[in-house]
Amino acid sequence: MTLKYLFSPIRIGNVEIKNRCAVAPMNLGAPMYSEDDKWPKKTIRYYEERAAGGMGLIITQFIRVYDKLACYPIVGLYDDSLIKSHGELVDRVHKHGTKIFHQAALMGGKIHTGHGEGVSSIYSPAYLYRPRELTTDELDMLKEKFIDAAGRGQQAGYDGVEIHGAHLYLIGALMSPATNKRTDKYGGSFEGRMRFITDIIKGIRQKYPKYNIGVKFNAYEELEDGIDIELGQKIAKYISGLGVDYLHVSSESTTLGVFSKFAPVPTMYQPRNNLIPLAAEIKKICPNQIIIATGSITIPQEADTFIKEGKCDMVSLGRTIIADAKWAKNSVEEKNITPCIRCMVCYQQLLTGEALCCSMNPYMLHESEQELPLPAKIKNVMIVGAGPAGIRCAVTAAKRGHKVTLYERMPYIGGMIYPGSRPAFKKDVARAIEYFEKEIKSNKINLVFNTEVTPEFVEKENPDVLVIAIGAKPIMPQIVNIDSSLVVSAIDVLRDISKYKKGKAVVIGGGDVGCETACHMADNGFDVTIVEILPNLLEENKDNNLKLSLLNLIKEKKIKIFTNTRPNAVTPQGLEVILPNGKEGGINANLIAVAINQNPDSSFIKNLALKAEEFYIIGDCKEVGRIKDAISEGEKTGRWI
Ligand SMILES: Cc1cc2nc3c(=O)[nH]c(=O)nc-3n(C[C@H](O)[C@H](O)[C@H](O)COP(=O)(O)O)c2cc1C
Repeated sequence: MTLKYLFSPIRIGNVEIKNRCAVAPMNLGAPMYSEDDKWPKKTIRYYEERAAGGMGLIITQFIRVYDKLACYPIVGLYDDSLIKSHGELVDRVHKHGTKIFHQAALMGGKIHTGHGEGVSSIYSPAYLYRPRELTTDELDMLKEKFIDAAGRGQQAGYDGVEIHGAHLYLIGALMSPATNKRTDKYGGSFEGRMRFITDIIKGIRQKYPKYNIGVKFNAYEELEDGIDIELGQKIAKYISGLGVDYLHVSSESTTLGVFSKFAPVPTMYQPRNNLIPLAAEIKKICPNQIIIATGSITIPQEADTFIKEGKCDMVSLGRTIIADAKWAKNSVEEKNITPCIRCMVCYQQLLTGEALCCSMNPYMLHESEQELPLPAKIKNVMIVGAGPAGIRCAVTAAKRGHKVTLYERMPYIGGMIYPGSRPAFKKDVARAIEYFEKEIKSNKINLVFNTEVTPEFVEKENPDVLVIAIGAKPIMPQIVNIDSSLVVSAIDVLRDISKYKKGKAVVIGGGDVGCETACHMADNGFDVTIVEILPNLLEENKDNNLKLSLLNLIKEKKIKIFTNTRPNAVTPQGLEVILPNGKEGGINANLIAVAINQNPDSSFIKNLALKAEEFYIIGDCKEVGRIKDAISEGEKTGRWI
């Protein structure tokens, strides 16, 4: 069997886990919690789906051990009345031969609690405000809450507890010298900082000796006075010495607004498996301890190799398992895996207080809706445009039995994802295209390239259903000489950079397309300057993780930046601009790539649509959106036809 390391069983304490694949703890977003702090049915279904998908272990999301000190309702284990709801989750997961640990946690000031309590009363990137320092008595009391929650977890039937000592929540902040400035017994020295977690572990061991204990902790923090790898190793060795059953290795950085190569939730602009080196360092110092690695582990063969090489014993998959609940099964059966493209849509939902969703998986948290309805009649479906909306619609319609032909004017699929996948640093998106290719093939969709579908063509083919998913066209800014031969669209540059002669280049527009284009051009030997009218690059991008990691690429590639700068005219020498001080300036360039915006071609779309009795207009050609919007609209339409 291939993947023999990943799919070999492992013993954690007194439970046998059928394979090395764990679902990473993930908060599913505020709307997924009920006022009574019990598990909502939908969340239970989410976990069950991952168990049915073959995962060996589920580590639940953050579960609070105390009914106060939280900024919004979140699942709890602070009272006996909650045990029954946990029992229901455990039974539903166990049914599939999957084990489940509950994560025991408290926020402790990292997220505004409305009460404002933290480990130390300091200004720190870990806090949104300066919290009140929790008293020694309060910490004594809270420690007991963790121990009691473990007892309740055991009663509910969980296989163990994971103590959440990572990400600078209460326990993590106590362990970190960056956030723990206390002078009482819970601070002041390494032993002091470790006292809280030590007492919890010892307390659980004493009261519930048969209960398994794991600890998630930061082996590195990109923070002044934060945990470095050496201290991470010391912490690991110390906790391991307390007799825990596994260590789950994480980090802290970008969520605090600083970039780190050890970002805890790395984006598509960072390499995959970014926390494996940390896990390996911990394994080195604790060779006999079970080490769970996390951080953009998405490819089964890579996960298998890390275990084979002794860098970790298990892998915990976060966003990977959001994108594909059947990742484990699909890996073993060598089926097409829906790839996580690390676009951070899921994480953004969390930060904006919405339920998690996924660009690639429209059934994330809609697991009970995924069965496809049989159509009343088999139809001939013509889909125009093989971008994400068109492809998803084609695949879903074909799965339901319709006869689908997908027309694409280019010699490749992907629509806007295709140019978006060309930069070397966008390998995750290239994987999405490979995934789509396999889906088209396995669902026997007739794919026709190099074909411009016209109203006459639709009339001639006379399909039962026409789906228009032709995307949008780049907009050119209204500046003097914009039709000069120096000017091209950024999308064209991304599509095929080899067509353009290396030299000085200006990218107009500092949004994500502009920044990615600039980086891609720099990678290909161009000397690049970005001109952005707004005060900052990526001004409209709300996700700190994406922003920081893309800005880091721009810095690494030494791209020059002009913000607050207005493009004025194209000249034979390059671009004339109005500088922030209102004066004119010039940037020499022999290529100007425009990355402003896109618009649908509505009159063409209308002419096309009116040639079919049943038609749908979907994706960017209806309204320019993100991959998530295109795929979910494609899915809805594919179900409806
Ligand atoms: C939406 C989201 C919610 C998360 N919530 C938690 C949590 O409740 N507890 C925790 O320890 N880690 C949490 N994490 C971190 C993950 O467990 C994991 O360490 C991290 O996402 C890296 O794995 P990945 O790259 O496979 O997503 C969360 C991550 C995401 C993306």
